Amino acid sequence: STGTATVASAQAYPSRPITMVVPFAAGGPTDTVARLVAESMSKSLGQQVIVENVGGAGGTRGAGQVAKAAPDGYTLLLHHIGHATAASLYRKLPYNPATDFEAVGLVTAVPMTLIAKNGLAPKTMGEVVEFVKANKDKVTYGNAGVGSASHLCGMLLMSSVGAQMTTVPYQGTGPAMNDLVGGQIDLMCDQTTNTTGQIKGGKVKVYGVTTKERVKSLPDVLTMQESGLKDFEVAVWHGVYVPKGTPKDIVEKLNAALNTALDDPKVIARFADLGTEPESKDRRSPAFHKDFVVAEIAKWKPIIQSAGVYAD
Ligand code: MLT
Repeated sequence: STGTATVASAQAYPSRPITMVVPFAAGGPTDTVARLVAESMSKSLGQQVIVENVGGAGGTRGAGQVAKAAPDGYTLLLHHIGHATAASLYRKLPYNPATDFEAVGLVTAVPMTLIAKNGLAPKTMGEVVEFVKANKDKVTYGNAGVGSASHLCGMLLMSSVGAQMTTVPYQGTGPAMNDLVGGQIDLMCDQTTNTTGQIKGGKVKVYGVTTKERVKSLPDVLTMQESGLKDFEVAVWHGVYVPKGTPKDIVEKLNAALNTALDDPKVIARFADLGTEPESKDRRSPAFHKDFVVAEIAKWKPIIQSAGVYAD
């Protein structure tokens, strides 16, 4: 019966390497989180967890690929808040973010930073607001496509300012960062997992962090609230998923390996250097993650609809 097959498959699982799909280009924040977690999971699972970057359409191309994969535990998705916002941004999404996946567990919630090319005139967040109001679509803003965290953050910025910039989409904010450092684009809002090094290296200007509290590794950077933008708050949570129908025992085994990774001192230290920390222990079950995705879809829907932003 399926029951025995499930038990057998879970006991033998994993018997070969596992693919972890990252729905953005290599070298970006999602990729950074994935490779840290995958390295640790490989040890505890006894099989290589191999990261595969599948960029495009704000993360929905990679997510769609995993939705259609075999539910055998050998294809994982590591995705962030964009998995929930896509439900409202894409009216013809080829999968349902809540029901076409099994939630394996939350990973980390990463702060975002508003950064600019060196040499951009504004010195403070207040001056950025005036600059965008005055220059509107002459200002170029890099993101990773509609549905990416950088897109969401840009949407919150433009809603706060009441002016539209010209957005320049990339396959991920890894490639986008190269153009920002090179001065080809003006502004970007990206996660500290990608921006900390560039900020500390003086390669970009930083105007603020998007979390309620200041970021420990960037202690002098004001929060958006401190700069007077009270509704401009977002932290980029990340989760791991498998296709719907993956046996529960396999989901539990993956959740255990993920939680071991989040308790790994190497992962904790690297996350801290990059301005973030593992998800708290009380929020690490598959059930919590499953309910959290549904709640986040409901939370962002009215915000997206009032901003009037759609991908299709
Ligand atoms: C990335 O990994 O490139 C980022 O997550 C893209 C984004 O969501 O802004």
